[in-house]
Amino acid sequence: MTTTSNTLELELQTLQDKAQEAIASITDLEDLEQLRISYLGKKGQLSRILGGMGKLSKDERPRIGALANTVKETLQTNLDLQRQTLQIAQIQAQLVVESLDVTMPGSSRPLGRLHPLNRTIDRVLDIFVGLGYGVATGPHLETDYYNFEALNIPSDHPARDMQDTFFLADGRLLRTHTSPVQIRYMETHKPPIRIVSPGRVYRRDTVDTTHSAVFHQVEILSVDKGLTFTKLKGTIKEFLKKMFGKELPVKFRASYFPFTEPSAEVDVQWQGEWLEVMGCGMVDPNVLKAVGYDPEVYTGFAAGLGVERFAMVLHKIDDIRRFYSSDMRFLSQF
Ligand code: DAH
Repeated sequence: MTTTSNTLELELQTLQDKAQEAIASITDLEDLEQLRISYLGKKGQLSRILGGMGKLSKDERPRIGALANTVKETLQTNLDLQRQTLQIAQIQAQLVVESLDVTMPGSSRPLGRLHPLNRTIDRVLDIFVGLGYGVATGPHLETDYYNFEALNIPSDHPARDMQDTFFLADGRLLRTHTSPVQIRYMETHKPPIRIVSPGRVYRRDTVDTTHSAVFHQVEILSVDKGLTFTKLKGTIKEFLKKMFGKELPVKFRASYFPFTEPSAEVDVQWQGEWLEVMGCGMVDPNVLKAVGYDPEVYTGFAAGLGVERFAMVLHKIDDIRRFYSSDMRFLSQF
């Protein structure tokens, strides 16, 4: 046995010990692959040692060659085992992270809800849609013509008073009611017409428990051949029955609106009290003429209601300002 073969044998043994120790201490699959390359790769440490075999004599070569193979196989086995161990550990860690315990209590998310005014509007619309009406809307910024003139409101009518209306410098105004939508709709559609129009309206009112400078109305309009006051009454009674959930005593009280003739105020007996809930009437022939309808052929009925008023009556709310104060203690009751 020569010095060279002894040296090689020793080097192989040392290599194996070092590699085994390193493999055992690896915890990462990527690192393990790097380690394999550095020991068993083409330019790895084992190859480098075997490069010295050329200096061996013919009869020494098989012994060292066999030893080298054993070292290689041993290390390969160690690497495979370690790789398996690490792969299993990786899967197990993943299972822990991704596991779902369906018996855990759920975390509840607070459910949002509609504002009582929107709920009231939705209810009114639903009822009229059920009666075959469509929904129409119009601008909040109006002209004198649509808000007053075309609705047969003469220029000396108290509704035009500066105290009631917000005027803009350019002569336009914030609509004081949803009735101008009647005009805009009729101007662009031919009868028969059946529409409801919800929306915000504006008045220069002093704010108190029942008044707000901004509030909501729903306008109702039907124009066709042969519409009569009886049909108006039937429609309103049906609406109120659905709105209050039962048939209540209803009273039509003669009243005055410039855009309807005859006109009436509707009262409902609700929990022992007569409540005024809406205005209505047969569309004035002047209004039909203003939009180019022939009043000899067509008749119409219209009605308007205050959304806040309805919501206050239905839910026994004592102050209109509660609707606008965004107080969750109030809002979460609906
Ligand atoms: N525009 C009226 C108001 O603001 C409400 C109203 C009454 C509308 C009678 C109508 C109606 O369409 O026929 O007080």
